[in-house]
Amino acid sequence: MTGRRLLFGGDYNPEQWDEDVWSEDIALMRDAHVTTVTLGVFAWGFLEVDDDVWDWDWFDRIIGMLAHAGIGIYLATPTAAPPTWLHRAHPEIIPVDRRGIRFHAGGRLGWCASHPTWHEYSTRIARRLGERYARHPAVSMWHVGNEFGGGNRLCYCEESSAAFRAWCRARHGTIDALNRAWGTAFWGLRYRSFDDVSAPLASESGTNPSLLLAYDRFASDELLGQFRRERDALRSAGATQPITTNLMLAVGGSVADYAQWTDDLDVVAIDHYAQAADPHREREIAFVASRARGLDRSAPWLLMEHAASAVNWQPRNTPKAPGEMARHSLQHIAHGSDGALFFQWRASAAGVEQFHSGMVPHAGTDTRHWRDVVALGSLVDRLGEVAGSLVAPTRTAIVADIPAKWAWEEAQPPLPGLPIEAESRRWHEALSARGLVPDVVAPQADLMAYELLIVPGMYAVSDAVADSIADAATRGATVVIGPLSGIVDEENRVRVGGYPAAFRALLGVFGEELHPLQEGDAVTLSSGAVVADWAERLRVVDAEVVDRYASGVLAGWPAITRRNVGDGSAWYVSGLVVEGFDDLVGAVVSASGVGAAVPVLDGVEAVRRVGDGASWLFLINHSAAPARVPAVGVDLVSGDRVEGDITLAAGAVAVVREDATS
Ligand code: GAL
Repeated sequence: MTGRRLLFGGDYNPEQWDEDVWSEDIALMRDAHVTTVTLGVFAWGFLEVDDDVWDWDWFDRIIGMLAHAGIGIYLATPTAAPPTWLHRAHPEIIPVDRRGIRFHAGGRLGWCASHPTWHEYSTRIARRLGERYARHPAVSMWHVGNEFGGGNRLCYCEESSAAFRAWCRARHGTIDALNRAWGTAFWGLRYRSFDDVSAPLASESGTNPSLLLAYDRFASDELLGQFRRERDALRSAGATQPITTNLMLAVGGSVADYAQWTDDLDVVAIDHYAQAADPHREREIAFVASRARGLDRSAPWLLMEHAASAVNWQPRNTPKAPGEMARHSLQHIAHGSDGALFFQWRASAAGVEQFHSGMVPHAGTDTRHWRDVVALGSLVDRLGEVAGSLVAPTRTAIVADIPAKWAWEEAQPPLPGLPIEAESRRWHEALSARGLVPDVVAPQADLMAYELLIVPGMYAVSDAVADSIADAATRGATVVIGPLSGIVDEENRVRVGGYPAAFRALLGVFGEELHPLQEGDAVTLSSGAVVADWAERLRVVDAEVVDRYASGVLAGWPAITRRNVGDGSAWYVSGLVVEGFDDLVGAVVSASGVGAAVPVLDGVEAVRRVGDGASWLFLINHSAAPARVPAVGVDLVSGDRVEGDITLAAGAVAVVREDATS
């Protein structure tokens, strides 16, 4: 285990500062135990100063300084920020919005992933960087672009339409197949050939939800294509280091179907920004981190960016409370990240993000904030032995699918605006509170690894996904299908013949009518639980009724059902349970036989990482009260031996290297 290190550092934009600041930066990085910086993310205009005119000197100098200080470099292809000269020469690469209006230069991500001119310029800069630095010993990874699709996800230009037509042809083969899949008989749309198909520019009266969903998928594939293009340019220039990009997994964000990207990434890397207004933001962090590891259970992932304190883009940008930065970083590491990197090293003085926190604040180093950064760097350094380990295998997973969310959002569904993903997060919170450490996985994951499988809000489902979820139940898992699931197919067409058609056979139920409720209306169940927002008129065909609607027009109809399937069982929760949810969670957990994997204490998050015969128990006290937690081993935070239990002060963290039990 010696020689292992977790990563600590962040985005470094030296071009924003005079060169005399650079040596201070390097000295401070050393004080803060910075291992790694991401360099060059927005530096294109400083490297290629005009079309094919290059200035490498300053970049060589800063790379040399970092290398000399032993700081590793993630070298970015700077394609997130096309230079002004490129936009002046080729404004046609800038995305066009749904109304057909092209944006203007001056922001970032001003490019269309389908545009051939963009392909040419972006691969040239990637190749030139590769040729120059592929063999540099300090370059330990390549960081392609930045947050693909964060602003330029959907472009509606002519080039995009042409690429979309080709994409549709590849997916459907014939125009008849496309017409059938998208239900173009509605409003007499009916395409005669692929030439009739175009990007879904705004119409006066609504757009086919199948077309919109197809465009979301297409956009995700186009962005992935751009990632591959730059990656291949780096490889062909001789790069041998791992290559990745930073994904955005935050709740609410869904720019791409990342499950399709994972095979192309050498390391899963994510950015995450907590919402200051969310009183339980630590729970959202745990959800997102569980989703990051769910993308690739076989290796650690990496937190490529988070904020040292406030961001500049929320309605109220309150700084993190003392201790909160460390708790957030440690949460990500606990959940499998091999480090904690930030956006950005030094807070900018100018530009759009001038009030975004950095590791070095505007006020400088005589600040609580800087001292906390240094303390965190030192702690992350002391935790180095954890690097390479994985979160202990868990028997519980929540299945969450980005295209299913798109499908719901792109339709005019019975309850528009209902945040379909919120259900996944609620299950995650409730299961985590019971010590189950659930993974959050895409439906393509190996579902057989889990004993308890929660499928909430899986609105759009293909036959293949429905089958693999059913197989998990047959093989012995307790499967819980939540409301809003199995309603449409993967093309966004309703599966007719009773809801939730994709899962009807598995569940042994027949849904007659989707039944959204008016705001403020609540329906009581026989158990005393309460449902709000969403219910369903449901009958059982071959299932046992666990709970019934007991008030309102649905009184007497089944609400929650259960069916034995093979060696397992399949539950259906047809309404959004807002009161009594924890009892429901308790019932399915006990039916599954899955027990707590970590100590369970109010307000204390516990996660275990394992590797090479060792295990580390991460304990994070999010509460305002001290807590005593059972543990035996050595706390790497304090260096103290722990015999039986450890007392965690309010807001404190511990990482206990556990004594081997055998
Ligand atoms: C990220 C982005 C960074 C910076 C940051 C601000 O999404 O990758 O470059 O803009 O947001 O929070």
